[in-house]
Amino acid sequence: MTGRFITLEGGEGTGKSTQIRRLAATLGEKGIATLCTREPGGSPGAEEIRKLLVEGEPGRWDAVTETLLVYAARADHVARTIGPALLTDTWVISDRFNDSTFAYQGVGRGLARETIRRIDSAVLDDFAPDLTLIFDLDVKISLDRAMARGAAENRFEKFGLEFHERLRQAFLDIAKRSPERCRVIDASGSEEQVAEAIFAAVSRRFDL
Ligand code: TMP
Repeated sequence: MTGRFITLEGGEGTGKSTQIRRLAATLGEKGIATLCTREPGGSPGAEEIRKLLVEGEPGRWDAVTETLLVYAARADHVARTIGPALLTDTWVISDRFNDSTFAYQGVGRGLARETIRRIDSAVLDDFAPDLTLIFDLDVKISLDRAMARGAAENRFEKFGLEFHERLRQAFLDIAKRSPERCRVIDASGSEEQVAEAIFAAVSRRFDL
């Protein structure tokens, strides 16, 4: 594969979607073709599975079922969207990927890390992002922002503050565990400041 695979991770309402658009535009100015995508979703089938995951009541699925749904969507996303794009030299930027499962279904919902790791390895083999930007922000601020969006897709927001505090720590722990792949981005700055921090991390990682 010749393209690069960049993922953005972190809690709800940390500003990932805005920054994905900005990063794609900046890379485009440098002549790099990009594809912006998201999880759960990113292919027609995976978008259908997304609805099952992000709508409805928190207790709708037990943690194992939820994880299998996430990976069913991910398998389709990688096979039909991410993989083909990387083969054509396109850089793929995804709003969330497998770190979200280790945080949400693992630390959040209490599924053993080793169980997720085994599912991950069965589905993805060794496929992993080249760079992961972890958006870090005070949970009260980020949840308020997410709630203000008022979307129907609020199943995970309903898990409550304590759940989201644990998620924040889970993402920081992932960054510590994989320092060569992950960079923590302080998402409390202005949109401009965050965009600059992201581009600095991307340039450094890929020698732009
Ligand atoms: P979004 O709000 O960033 O679009 O993400 C949709 C929700 O899906 C978000 O609440 C996090 C959740 N999610 C998981 O629980 N596990 C996963 O593996 C992924 C990718 C997302």
